[in-house]
Amino acid sequence: MTVTDPATLAGSTPSPARPWALLAELTHACPLHCGYCSNPLELTRRSRELTTGQWTDVMRQAGEFGVVHTHLSGGEPLLRRDLEQIVAAAEAAGIYTQLVTSGVGLDRERLSALAAAGLRSVQLSVQHADPHASDRIAGRRSFAEKERAAALVRAAGLPLGLNVVLHRENLDAVDAVVELGLSWGVDRIELANAQFYGWGLLNRAALLATRDQLARARDAVERWRERLTPDGPDLVWVVPDYFDGMAKPCMGGWGAISLTVTPDGTVLPCPAAASLPDLDPPNIRDHPLAWIWDRSPAFGRYRGTDWMADPCRSCSRREEDFGGCRCQAYALTGDAARTDPACRLSPDHGLIRALTDDHTDGTGAIRRRVPGRPERTL
Ligand code: SF4
Ligand code: FES
Repeated sequence: MTVTDPATLAGSTPSPARPWALLAELTHACPLHCGYCSNPLELTRRSRELTTGQWTDVMRQAGEFGVVHTHLSGGEPLLRRDLEQIVAAAEAAGIYTQLVTSGVGLDRERLSALAAAGLRSVQLSVQHADPHASDRIAGRRSFAEKERAAALVRAAGLPLGLNVVLHRENLDAVDAVVELGLSWGVDRIELANAQFYGWGLLNRAALLATRDQLARARDAVERWRERLTPDGPDLVWVVPDYFDGMAKPCMGGWGAISLTVTPDGTVLPCPAAASLPDLDPPNIRDHPLAWIWDRSPAFGRYRGTDWMADPCRSCSRREEDFGGCRCQAYALTGDAARTDPACRLSPDHGLIRALTDDHTDGTGAIRRRVPGRPERTL
C-alpha cells in the first residue's frame, strides 16, 4: 500500500453502475441462536415482513434492473412458506438463486419443490465439525439436520457450499471442518472469519480469536490448498480484517455492485447499514428500486470517493477497498465517514489494536437472539 500526493488524485462520484447482486433477507426469524449473527439487535417482526406479492415485485424489478444473482437469506428463509413462489419469481426474472440456510426444516419434498421452482444452489451453514460443539454454538440441536440437508442437496444434484463462521470457539477446528466438507461432498467451503455486526458486535469479546489461533488456522488453510486437487472443493478464506491491518472492500463498495432488501422492505447498500444514524434508508414499499439505486440519498451517501477524508482521499488503494466498511467505522468511532479503523493507516487503528493485542481472555457470555425477547444470555 502506498500513499500518493493528494493533488494528483481527484475524488469522484461516478454515475452508478447497475447492481448485479441482491441479498434478500426474507425473514429475521430463525430456529438457531448463533452468537455471531449479523442480524440487527432489533429484529423485524414477522407481521412486518414483505408479502409474497411484494417479494415477487422486488424480484421483477431487480431482474429488469440487471441483477443476476440473489442470496435468499435471513434468518432462516425456509421459514417463509412462500419461498417456492419467491424462488419462482426470481427465476422468471432471470436471476440465479442461492438459498442460504441452516438446513433446519429442509426435507426431500421441500427441496424438490424449491428445485422445481428454479432454485440453483444451496449454501449450508455449520457451526463446527464436531456435532456437540456445532449444536452448542448454534444454541440448539441441529447438526444431524444439517447433515441430512447436505445429503439431500447432493442427491438433488444442486451445487452445495458449506459456510462456517470462524471465531474463538471453532478456529482451531479448520482441519476438521475441511474434512467434514469433503465427506459431505460439497463444492465450496467458505471459512468466514467472524465480522462484528449486530449480535456479533454485541458478543465480540467472547468471539474474538487470538493471533495465535489465526496463525494456526491460516497454516491449516495453506496446507489444504496444497493438498486439494483441482477437482476438490473451492476453499475460500474470508480475511479477518481486525487482524490484517487492511480494510476490506465491503460489499464491493457502497452502492457499487449490490444491494440488500431487509424483511420489512428497507433497501440498504449493505446488511448492517440500518445501524447508521441519519441514513434514512428507503423502502421498496415507497419507491421503485431504480429510484432507490440511482437517486436515493442513502445510496449516494458514501458512493465513489468524494465523501472521503484523508488518509483515504489521498491513498492509492481508495478505489480498491473504498475506505473499508462504513458500518465498522461507525461502530468503532461513532462516525461512518471516517477511515475504517481496520486499516493500519487510519488514525483510529489503535482502537482495533487495543482489541486484538494480547486478547487472550475471551471473556463474556454469549448473548443470543430469541424471538419475542430482545436477548438472553446462555
Ligand atoms: Fe487507503 Fe483508506 Fe483503504 Fe486505508 S482504508 S488503505 S487509507 S483507502
Ligand atoms: Fe455496511 Fe460494511 S457492513 S458498509
